[in-house]
Amino acid sequence: MLSMPSNLTRRRVLQSAGAASLASLLPRAVFSQSAATRKTVVHADQEIGTIRAELHSHFAEHLGSCVYGGIWVGKNSAIPNVNGYRGDTVDYLRELGVPVLRWPGGCFADDYHWRDGVGPPEKRPRTVNTNWGGYVEDNSFGTNEFIGFCKLIGAQPYIAANVGAGSPEEMRDWMEYCNYPSGSTLSDLRAAGGSAEPFNVRYWGIGNELWGCGGNFRADQAAAEFRHFATFARPFGGVRPFLVGCGPNQNNLQWTRGFMDTLAGNRQPDGYSVHHYSDSPSAPLAFTPEAMYAQLNTFQRVEQTIVQQRNLLDTYDPNRRIGLFLDEWGVWDHGVTPAEEQRNGRLWQQQSMRSAVAAGLGLNVFNRQADKLYMCNIAQMVNVLQCMIITDGPQGKTAVRTTSYWAFMLFKPHRGKTAVRVETDASNSPAPADGARGGGRGAPKQSETPTDLSMSASRQGNQLVVTFVNPRHDVNMSIDCALGGVTARSGSAQILHDADLNAYNSFDNPNRVTIKPHTVTVEAGRMKLDLPALSIVTATLETA
Ligand code: AHR
Repeated sequence: MLSMPSNLTRRRVLQSAGAASLASLLPRAVFSQSAATRKTVVHADQEIGTIRAELHSHFAEHLGSCVYGGIWVGKNSAIPNVNGYRGDTVDYLRELGVPVLRWPGGCFADDYHWRDGVGPPEKRPRTVNTNWGGYVEDNSFGTNEFIGFCKLIGAQPYIAANVGAGSPEEMRDWMEYCNYPSGSTLSDLRAAGGSAEPFNVRYWGIGNELWGCGGNFRADQAAAEFRHFATFARPFGGVRPFLVGCGPNQNNLQWTRGFMDTLAGNRQPDGYSVHHYSDSPSAPLAFTPEAMYAQLNTFQRVEQTIVQQRNLLDTYDPNRRIGLFLDEWGVWDHGVTPAEEQRNGRLWQQQSMRSAVAAGLGLNVFNRQADKLYMCNIAQMVNVLQCMIITDGPQGKTAVRTTSYWAFMLFKPHRGKTAVRVETDASNSPAPADGARGGGRGAPKQSETPTDLSMSASRQGNQLVVTFVNPRHDVNMSIDCALGGVTARSGSAQILHDADLNAYNSFDNPNRVTIKPHTVTVEAGRMKLDLPALSIVTATLETA
């Protein structure tokens, strides 16, 4: 039986920033039906912007078993592989589609010297990964291997250059190695490593978290580093590097002011990178409802960060030439024990139904703010943090698609479509500003008030795609969605759902939480569907 939360305030909240005036356009009846029904509207004729496929991009770092074991097992491994790349990882990621892959870090990037990872593998030096546990890195996965992996899964490469412990010269040479066609010593070294064709790497990050592990710079110093490095970022092979400057942790507006003020009159970045994790002290599979809501509520701050950082950037860049990147995002469950990390690798993190809901909330935010975003990279691709695929450690022979993988799959139909405004009767209210904290990471106070219904929509040609997320663990919802500006004829839907917020896909039960067909009815300008507690539903409607 469907029930309604008795404690929810029936305050109408627009789920698209800046759309307050739209409320007056709604038919009166929309918000006055029975309490068991949640009222929503898609304004198919009110466009926000294109949902770039790049909003569904990924990040892979030399950290724990993300690269080694998760992506790369080596050509001589007993684990089925394609030239050293883990076969099941490749298959699953190709199916998901990875628009862009950012590498090699993360904190690792500012301590990584690319020359260590090129040339004959047996001659590569053994170095120490000082950021992630001090293990000895054999550098068997280097630039050629990264590009090879990107080609296998169909991703555009995005390289984070070393600012903290590196130099402009080192970055410039890496660009020549990757992009100069042939005839120079560095391009010939690339060819000797197996690729006569240039890699044509376009996306380059100028360091990572320069306010922290990337060098503990102040914003003005980070901007000066950007200016210095950008001077030597050359267009080898005709590829003009797209340079991503280091933005703040979360919504630190002071950092952005300091960075952009210092750059005034100089080369501005092509992209500006914000990191925004959704932290929790809980262990991945031991969340209480309260801990879940505390974590899920951070997505209101993610949305606010995107809106406020974009607004501030607009004052420096009114024509929006600088793309806003959410370079690292996702749930970070800090309750993993040292013994588990010892067994599986640093930051190994199972994904539950709660994690999938978090992914759904984040991806709905990106759709609703599509006009403000250029690229978003979930952290991280395999085994680490909010991963798509989990493997049982470097020696493991199985890989499992996580609940987060399936959440991403439910958003795939939005890629390339035009986001349109939506409206719900949800009780969520915008989070307070969080602009005062420094560049570094800190745990803001988190509200345990239950997160409410979330939605987004997009259209293209005669398709309208709508995604609903029910983050409540104790409330089934019945969605009544008015369709404005479009005539829908038929629809189909898919659902990801488990009543247990800690349900997950294990090696013994790999398909416990996967997407399934779901019933949707379309009639008289409305769409109706059930949205059980802890579920994500994507409906695809055929329109006239
Ligand atoms: O993703 C894990 C770490 O989180 C990255 O290395 C760093 O950029 C961030 O602090």
